[in-house]
Amino acid sequence: MNRPERLTEGRPTQGRPTQTGEAARSEIDTFTGNRALALEEGLIFEIGRAEVTGVDLDEPAPFTDRLGGLARKAALGLPGLSEPEAMRHYVRLSQKNYSIDAGLYPLGSCTMKHNPRLNEALARLPGFADIHPLQPQSTVQGALELMEELARWLLALTGMEAIAMSPKAGAHGEACGMMAIKAAIAAKGEGATRKIVLVPDSAHGTNPASATRIGFEIRSVPARADGTVDAAEVRRRLGPDVAAIMLTNPNTCGLFEKDIVAIAEVVHEAGAYFYCDGANFNAIMGKARPGDLGVDAMHINLHKTFSTPHGGGGPGAGPVALSAQLAPFAPLPFLRRDDNGLRLIEQASEAPQSIGRMSAFHGQMGMFVRALAYMLSHGADGLRQASEDAVLSANYIRASLADLLSQPFGDKLCMHEALFDDAWLKPTGLTTLDFAKALIDEGYHPMTIYFPLVVHGAMLIEPTESESKASLDLFIATMRDLAFAALRGETERFLAAPFHAPRRRLDETGAARRPILKWTKPVAE
Ligand SMILES: Cc1ncc(COP(=O)(O)O)c(C=O)c1O
Repeated sequence: MNRPERLTEGRPTQGRPTQTGEAARSEIDTFTGNRALALEEGLIFEIGRAEVTGVDLDEPAPFTDRLGGLARKAALGLPGLSEPEAMRHYVRLSQKNYSIDAGLYPLGSCTMKHNPRLNEALARLPGFADIHPLQPQSTVQGALELMEELARWLLALTGMEAIAMSPKAGAHGEACGMMAIKAAIAAKGEGATRKIVLVPDSAHGTNPASATRIGFEIRSVPARADGTVDAAEVRRRLGPDVAAIMLTNPNTCGLFEKDIVAIAEVVHEAGAYFYCDGANFNAIMGKARPGDLGVDAMHINLHKTFSTPHGGGGPGAGPVALSAQLAPFAPLPFLRRDDNGLRLIEQASEAPQSIGRMSAFHGQMGMFVRALAYMLSHGADGLRQASEDAVLSANYIRASLADLLSQPFGDKLCMHEALFDDAWLKPTGLTTLDFAKALIDEGYHPMTIYFPLVVHGAMLIEPTESESKASLDLFIATMRDLAFAALRGETERFLAAPFHAPRRRLDETGAARRPILKWTKPVAE
């Protein structure tokens, strides 16, 4: 690959002010606590006053309460703000949130890609946004049709037999798929014996957690030196006690599991099922169909592959594609078309082998609209290109940093995310965490760090397909500048970073071990 010259030299500094050394980064405490125009903001309980409100409502007409004396005697004391104060409160909070709309968000495994505005506009159409899940089905035929069309696209892309639309996220989809596997095993009369689920060491934590929650025990499978799982290792761990394997493909090291077909074969020969964690489907969509690879169940994180937002306004969607063997166990409700149009099958009497409901209703309509809009606006060729571009972007970053940063599995092509370890940092005395914190000072959300756990000091970078080459070049230049600074021994730039963020180094262990999740009113002096 031709690398622009400035990338091998680091970023040219001519013509722009440089800030190096302790003096440039020394801090002056401000009187306000604000950092330039980045404003501090208190909790609403701290800044709100019970006597203030942003709305002006008429006094209610006289009424007789029917609470039988249970009415609250004292004011609730909720914090109130005037309208301008409320606006400022939420705008300031939003400005503390780094987002994909603000800049490149290279968080590996999380796929922070652009949410197209077209999708947002369509999701807000009243026919989709203002309907209620308990409305008579005859009045929401259009919405049901959209769900059917989305399911049709997902089935075409996965090459699977059935799709469960109601799971709300990847992990919820894992639970759904593993429940279907458990039900299928029970239906064969093997529920008491098949208790083990094989999970590779590199798996996302949700895999063993989901399997354990469904009542399985975990047997781990080590990866071989190249970062992938060996079918022979899987075979060695299979037996009449094994219910399934949960394998991520492409895996969490950003590598395609090249033995996947052989793994599916040995798993099936042993009478077990193949759950594929499809969180990284965005790297192979339109290129390979999991159904052709021997997968029995696979969740799809719509937010990762089909650009729906991560969180923000409610639950997400993690549809689960099922093979013909597992389709009868799909959760309720599901769609069926008959002479009167589309109908949701909601009762166990119509689907006796179903595992039942995964959630109250049929799924997250807002996410369904956005995902289908993404599919239709890209078309089949565009979806394939999105995967290709995601892989190309990751490899561009990987190849552009390969002379400075170390790669745990050697200098070879990756899928949609580039993985580095901390071997290159050893002589500097710095850690992956120090490097990631310095990246914040440069205006970048750090990459995923220390995951996957099988790689020491991992840095997992996922640029996605939606970054331009200019944006990738700037990120690469920043990474190179920081890497050169680390190798030059400029440790002070890293050790106390971030210098410019609203908060400096936090006690992350303390925050995890002793979280303060509740506001307690200070006692008046
Ligand atoms: C490989 C993998 N599996 C499972 C999940 C869980 O998905 P979700 O966060 O939607 O529950 C993720 C999330 O990033 C993932 O990367």
